[in-house]
Formats: sequence, structure tokens, C-alpha cells
Amino acid sequence: MELIEGILSRRSIRAFKPEEVPEKLIIELLEIATHAPSAVNLQPWEFFVIKGNVLSDLKAAYLHDYRRGELPNPDIPVGQTRDIAPVLEGVYKERQVALAKQIFGTMDINKANKKEKWSERMVQFYYAPAIIVIVVDRILQSDWPILDVGLVAENIALCALEFGLGTCIMRAIVDYPENLRKIALIPESKRIIIGLAIGSPDWDHPIARINTDREKVQNLVTFAG
Ligand SMILES: Cc1cc2nc3c(=O)[nH]c(=O)nc-3n(C[C@H](O)[C@H](O)[C@H](O)COP(=O)(O)O)c2cc1C
Repeated sequence: MELIEGILSRRSIRAFKPEEVPEKLIIELLEIATHAPSAVNLQPWEFFVIKGNVLSDLKAAYLHDYRRGELPNPDIPVGQTRDIAPVLEGVYKERQVALAKQIFGTMDINKANKKEKWSERMVQFYYAPAIIVIVVDRILQSDWPILDVGLVAENIALCALEFGLGTCIMRAIVDYPENLRKIALIPESKRIIIGLAIGSPDWDHPIARINTDREKVQNLVTFAG
């Protein structure tokens, strides 16, 4: 796949087929993805690939916490609301609302069924057969490695296309880090940054039709000189 075609065709996948993703394939994918640049070639990323029974246990724990009304408590603070996203204003709020309208419209989600059809699917990582959690050693105290993690996450999402896989980069995966530590044995010494759901996309699911908008670049660019 051509690079630009890959960048343009990648989209977040929120419905998966149940087939497992072989470990060998994940290793191959990560070998490519970790060619991402990082500040002073720090390569601060480490990966926990969670699947099978451990993933089932994790999903159950997340669902339990969500239903109990536990506030998300990710290692990177993102806001105080019980809602999935932090408090947003202005154009940022507009973009978030536009995305929600698109998703909720496609899936016939309304106030009455939102919990079941949306939130509870999300806290179970859209039933992906595997998730990849990216962590950074706490010895690296600054926030800079988070940028490097972003680069490797996008590389994973792009490489996945070449393997016929889909991904969704998900903050929801890191909402309850204490569960990740207890169930997937991610040590306290690692800061949990972000996760990706990964698997074969279920293209028959209506959510697969989502194609998100982008701001016109002319509105974002300032040339100087
Ligand atoms: C850091 C980050 C966190 C995200 N967290 C979630 C999430 O928790 N749940 C979700 O459904 N999508 C999540 N997404 C996916 C975004 O909603 C998606 O990238 C955005 O709407 C643009 O759509 P696209 O990826 O299909 O181009 C996240 C994306 C990023 C980069």
C-alpha cells in the first residue's frame, strides 16, 4: 500500500471480527512500527498485548467499574468529568459534537440506548480480539515521551492496514489503569499512556461507514516569511 493512500484510508475501527491476531503478526507489526522517530532515540515505548482470557477478565472489570460509576483515572490526567472526554469549548466542542452526531446517527443511538449501544461497547474495547497498551517507564519523568508514543501509535495504526487489520487508538483502554495492573500485570513502575484495539474489521457493521471530517488546512496554517 502506498504511504499516502494508507494515511488517507486509515480510520478508527470500532467493530471487529472475533478472529485472533497471531502473536507472530503482532511482533512483525511492532518491529516495523518501532521505526518511529523518538527524541534522542529514546524509544520510550513498551507494549503489553492483551488477548484471550486476560482480555475477557479485563473487559469484565472495566464494565463493572463503568456500571458502578467509577470515574476514569488514567495515568495521564484528562479532565474531571465522568464523561469520556474532558470539558471542551468552542471549535473543539463543535468537532466533538460533530463526531458524536455522526457515530450516534449511524448506529441509531439515542439517550435511552446510549449506555448499552455506545459506552458499554467502548469500555469493552469494541470487542476487539486484542488490545495493545503502550507504556513508558516512570524513570522517564518528563511528558516528552508521550509525543514519541503518539508517533509509534500512528505507525501501528498504519502498519495494521498492510496486514489487513484495523485499529482504534483508545483513551478508554487506559481509563482504569488499576485494572490493567491487576489483571494484565502491568507494573506500577510503568506509566500507562494509550491503548489500541486491533483486529480484523467487521466491515458489515454500520459503524464501519464512519468517515470523519477534517478542518481545512488553510484555517490551520500561518506562513511566516
Ligand atoms: C489519543 C486518542 C484517543 C482516542 N480515544 C478514543 C476512545 O477512547 N474511544 C474511541 O472510540 N475513539 C478514540 N479515539 C479515536 C478518535 O475518535 C478518532 O481518531 C477521531 O474521531 C478521528 O477519526 P478517524 O480515526 O476515523 O480518522 C482516540 C484517538 C486518539 C488519537
